[in-house]
Amino acid sequence: MYRLTGNGILSSIEQKWERLRILKTEIWHLKKVEPERDIIKRAAQIIKDGNLVAFPTETVYGLGANGLDSEAVKKIFEAKGRPNDNPLILHIANLKDVFYLASIVPLKAQVLMEEFWPGPLTLVFSKSKFIPEEITCGLETVAIRMPKHQVALALIREAGVPIAAPSANRSGYPSPTEADHVYNDLHGLIDVILDAGPTGLGLESTVLDISGEVPTILRPGGVTIEQLIPLIGHVEYDAGLHHSSEAPKAPGMKYTHYSPRAAVILLDGEPEQVASKLKDMVEDYTLKGSKVGLLLTNEIYQKVKDISTTYMINIGNRQDLPKIAQSIYKELRNCDLAGVDIILTETYHEEGLGTAIMNRLLKSAGYKVISC
Ligand code: TXA
Ligand code: MG
Repeated sequence: MYRLTGNGILSSIEQKWERLRILKTEIWHLKKVEPERDIIKRAAQIIKDGNLVAFPTETVYGLGANGLDSEAVKKIFEAKGRPNDNPLILHIANLKDVFYLASIVPLKAQVLMEEFWPGPLTLVFSKSKFIPEEITCGLETVAIRMPKHQVALALIREAGVPIAAPSANRSGYPSPTEADHVYNDLHGLIDVILDAGPTGLGLESTVLDISGEVPTILRPGGVTIEQLIPLIGHVEYDAGLHHSSEAPKAPGMKYTHYSPRAAVILLDGEPEQVASKLKDMVEDYTLKGSKVGLLLTNEIYQKVKDISTTYMINIGNRQDLPKIAQSIYKELRNCDLAGVDIILTETYHEEGLGTAIMNRLLKSAGYKVISC
């Protein structure tokens, strides 16, 4: 997926980027359940050799390197164009590894590991002396998670090291939920993509800082605050998560993020009002020559499905948050592929998975919300 300038020509940054694509990226298909041993072995060898392999997790595809090899980790930052103050998550397959990678493992963390690992919960601990500087970007803490995906777990086991992996998108773009998304962003920049089909959750893990007094959610994700509280009591959201002057504690949350090429705008209000505002906006934009994409829940879709626009998708019933979470990134990318200039979509209640969905949508929209 290319970021085009208004006249359809690649920007100079893009042109420079294109020249860096010198590798021949291969896609290796394998089974989600009981993945083929020989493919895992070959992929693990690439990791051991200090190179990059993109692989599926239950959340999104990750871009993996040997987490104990500084030079390999640097390649992740180069391939993604990732700011060098944005630390990486270490992925493990064996619970015991936490005690090697973290200097302190609080009791509350152990309770959560027992309940949610493998699964979409990343825990931030005080780091041990074994963690390379490139992983933590100068922080005293390290983020660790155990993914719930057989390909990811088999790869980590076979490589025999913790695997550092951010989402396998180009920095700033929506995270990849399919191997094709990874290929679009990173072909020529990485060695291999392991393709085991679409990821289940579609949004990233929850990042929970468990290193301080009060467990704090730095990034809402697959495990919700409602699931955490009964197990460990009081949990807070990082103040910097909201659109405020406070800097977020997860460095990654301060960047423009999850953004397709097109501008995203969220519409907030009762279904009738949202539908009526949508119709007006599509008409206005179309008159001005802009192409509009609509990502709508079934409730709104049914009210506006007759209007003519460049791209329109029904992402499921408003109540079906897992389905919506699964579709959001893919559909933002599809809007780009359809060549739209503006994406209009809806807001969600910040409850359960809705909190993570809204967090990503607000960021991809640069906090542009219209009340209807
Ligand atoms: O679901 C996921 O978590 C996916 C899959 C591939 O595992 N990974 C992922 O990684 O989303 P990434 O790098 O795209 O996002 C990691 C987030 C960033 O916002 C980063 O700043 C934050 O976690 N983070 C990592 N280490 C941290 C640390 N020590 N302290 C605070 N935040 C940290
Ligand atoms: Mg990411």
